[in-house]
Amino acid sequence: ASIAEATMAGDGVRRRDFINIAAVSFAGVGGLAALYPLISQMAPSADVLAESSTEIDISAISPGQAIKAVWRKQPVFIRNLTPEEIKAADAVDVSTLRDPETLEKRTTAGKTNWLITMGVCTHLGCVPLGAGEGEVKGEFGGYFCPCHGSVYDTAARIRKGPAPKNLEVPPHEFSSDTVVKIG
Ligand code: FES
Repeated sequence: ASIAEATMAGDGVRRRDFINIAAVSFAGVGGLAALYPLISQMAPSADVLAESSTEIDISAISPGQAIKAVWRKQPVFIRNLTPEEIKAADAVDVSTLRDPETLEKRTTAGKTNWLITMGVCTHLGCVPLGAGEGEVKGEFGGYFCPCHGSVYDTAARIRKGPAPKNLEVPPHEFSSDTVVKIG
């Protein structure tokens, strides 16, 4: 091949590359444009985003009691564990759990009595029953999901049923001894 032919062949390749790149970019833009309504629909609405954190007064929750708060439009369980419930949670051999986590890891240092979890079953998202709601004092003393029977223990760790994970612990910190900030 002469030098001239080689150059022409090179030009051909470069032109094809350009056409390919142009086509890909165009598809990319077209694809994004088509996806935009879907993405904007999936994005949390402004009022949900505005609620990036919420402060809850926990002064009235006695040991053995729990309340259901709301954060980002989802239920959150705030539970004041009794010394016996803490002991029961600590007595579990974590290595045998489906989703191994100690109570210590799921709570704040020095405040292991305060167990704060999402009230959303990790199976298909039903709201499990909490303290004082029927079956709570069942086999593992934690939460029971009425939808398909998942059972969580006193540390809200999954022990039975189809749920794959423990009840999720949302980001939180204690503003004082009586107020917790979630989010
Ligand atoms: Fe809770 Fe299925 S949604 S067990």
